[in-house]
Amino acid sequence: MNILNNISLLPYNSFGIDVRTKYFAEYQNIEELYQLLESDIARREKLLQIGSGSNLLFVSDFEGIILYSKIKFIEKMAETDGEVFLRVGSGVVWDDFVNYCVTNNYIGAENLSLIPSQTGAAAVQNIGAYGVEISDIVQTVETIDIQTLEKQIFTNSECQYDYRTSVFKTDLKGKKIVTAVEFCLSKKPNFNLSYANLKQEILKNYSEINLSNIRATIISIRDSKLPNPKIKGNAGSFFTNPYICIAHFEKLKKTYPEIPYYPVNEELVKIPAAWLIEQCGWKGKQRGRAAVNAAQPLVLVNQGSAAGAEILALAQEIQKSIKEKFAINLKLEVEVIF
Ligand code: EPU
Repeated sequence: MNILNNISLLPYNSFGIDVRTKYFAEYQNIEELYQLLESDIARREKLLQIGSGSNLLFVSDFEGIILYSKIKFIEKMAETDGEVFLRVGSGVVWDDFVNYCVTNNYIGAENLSLIPSQTGAAAVQNIGAYGVEISDIVQTVETIDIQTLEKQIFTNSECQYDYRTSVFKTDLKGKKIVTAVEFCLSKKPNFNLSYANLKQEILKNYSEINLSNIRATIISIRDSKLPNPKIKGNAGSFFTNPYICIAHFEKLKKTYPEIPYYPVNEELVKIPAAWLIEQCGWKGKQRGRAAVNAAQPLVLVNQGSAAGAEILALAQEIQKSIKEKFAINLKLEVEVIF
């Protein structure tokens, strides 16, 4: 266990923001995490656990200690005719796990291919794409309490999963560190092809629908819409898709009959934020070194050496225009770290 001083966070955030952290430490296993949490520095300083930094926006140097999990294992816990239970270390790169599942013919994670994340962070954030959320396959989440160092295992329902959120982002924010996640995958081919024209997209290029063809198609859809953070800094969707009440929706529909929407329940509908942003004329717009991605305007990009504050300023301008035009508050999906 080694606590480093004054480290650049450039390799640890997909936005490519060049800030530094006062302290930084990696841990390979739970024992090292315990040692770190018991150290004077961790007891004294502000503490932030990061995953792959693909959902963070740093707007200044971090005056505290950043912890980074390198707990990497995938182990089979149990198996039946129809299901397999896999326990995965929090530091496993999410797409490596998806690839492992696809290679072994385990079904359930394939639609979440290529999402940049570590497994622990993915379970906190409830990552989702193409009709699937990680909460659909999470069995349990193993954690350590930052203050008491107590171990606690959360069942799926105790995680209080919802759209891009969990109890670890709400009531327990900053209190627990995820060390491992157990997943339940299916061995039967019950694929989720509910998203838009996913099925047609697969059949355009392949003669049959199977796990590896689904993964390849999802990767190609992502590549066509989402900029590669290695080339252009970004954190995927910057905002979440807002939920609005039916009355508000009906009113908007009179002015904008073409407004896209997804029913949530009897009271709420979800509106694609990308559509709202496009309607406000933001597609491809640039402010300083921050810009709105042209192919998918829900993504803000770093055009090169942007400061976190420039990206945030652009996001706030977008929020303001959407509030004025549609009376909708866009919420950030990205976590801003001050
Ligand atoms: N749209 C436009 N203009 C555009 C692009 C999209 O109007 O230029 C509208 C269209 O109506 C389209 C709708 O937005 O049907 C939805 O677009 P898309 O399918 O690309 O998905 P999204 O709602 O923008 C969400 C997730 C993505 C995930 C995709 C696919 C959120 C915040 N984002 O985006 O997740 O990959 O669905 O399932 O829910 C992420 O969280 O970082 C992320 C990339």
